[in-house]
Amino acid sequence: MSRKIPLQQRGFAVSRLVLGCMGLGGGWKRDPLTAEDLRAAHEAVDAALNAGITMFDHADIYAYGKAEQVFGQVLAERPELKEKMVLQSKCGIRFEDGPGGPGRYDFSKEHIVQSVDGILGRLKVDAIDILLLHPPDPLMEPEEVAEAFDQLLRAGKVKTFGVSNMNSAQMRMLQSSLDVPLIVNQLELSLSKLDWIDAGVLVNQKPGAEVNFAQGTLEHCRLENIQVQSWGPLSKGLFTGRDLTGQPDHVKQTAALVQKLAEQKETTPEAVVLAWLMRHPAGIQPVIGTTSPERIRACAAAMDITLTREEWYSLYVTSRGKKMP
Ligand SMILES: NC(=O)c1ccc[n+]([C@@H]2O[C@H](COP(=O)([O-])OP(=O)(O)OC[C@H]3O[C@@H](n4cnc5c(N)ncnc54)[C@H](OP(=O)(O)O)[C@@H]3O)[C@@H](O)[C@H]2O)c1
Repeated sequence: MSRKIPLQQRGFAVSRLVLGCMGLGGGWKRDPLTAEDLRAAHEAVDAALNAGITMFDHADIYAYGKAEQVFGQVLAERPELKEKMVLQSKCGIRFEDGPGGPGRYDFSKEHIVQSVDGILGRLKVDAIDILLLHPPDPLMEPEEVAEAFDQLLRAGKVKTFGVSNMNSAQMRMLQSSLDVPLIVNQLELSLSKLDWIDAGVLVNQKPGAEVNFAQGTLEHCRLENIQVQSWGPLSKGLFTGRDLTGQPDHVKQTAALVQKLAEQKETTPEAVVLAWLMRHPAGIQPVIGTTSPERIRACAAAMDITLTREEWYSLYVTSRGKKMP
């Protein structure tokens, strides 16, 4: 069954996969951008667009701002690319900034508005398509966030809004003060981090007490047509070629099953791992964090396959290391 995912239903020309840009800009070092960083960014963007990946995920903090900065340089050199892209970024995390300023989350109006100006400046664009609030700030005042969103909308700097790592209660509370819908929730979901599936499977069962995933989050997103995005979808290569020395048996068995399915389906292991996420009826958009052109192409093959129910369950059961309850 091929259905439009929530963002497509809302009119966004987005691909099923998103290129996560956290790895661009030379990584988590404070050194200035290099020519090599720029070359790598051009290559990653080209590999994504040529493979049909049209959406790009940023955050103001990635590589201390250098991920957006190098992406902005790519756009400045080739402005025609902007037309083909849907751009998403996030704000709300602050690093330590001197005495009295610990590493913290900040959803104050002032911080959100200022962060967006920083994002637009680094990306060298007038507006972004989607702004996500990064991790939930315990001091969040929904009315204050609403004022920030309103100001950004009226200024034409942000077109739509979403969140990351929030549960349904947090989303509903925030939504109650907003005039516009929250349209994305980005969460860590993968074949190696199964709490989001286990939470539903283990309702009313003892082992369910050990699962730490907020009940009702996926159901809320499905009911409200909110796009669920998965970060960490490749499990950093755990099932797709990384050295497995010292890993538990169920991880090795899952990697072997991924490889077997890839051979049967004449596709790549990356495609199998991502297609497993995409088979879920929430219409999940995996946000792939690779910057390697070859791996981006290997991931894009996921858009051409669909797993059967049996294949989906085989992967789930093997990865959880236990039969279904
Ligand atoms: N909302 C949030 O809180 C949050 C948090 C983290 C990330 N994100 C977003 O999600 C995106 C993806 O997250 P992620 O990077 O953590 O997850 P990921 O897609 O699971 O992992 C990507 C990383 O794994 C490496 N990798 C993949 N396959 C490999 C293999 N076979 N062998 C060795 N290394 C391999 C990649 O290296 P290569 O580049 O060499 O391929 C890259 O460093 C990020 O770019 C960011 O946009 C969001």
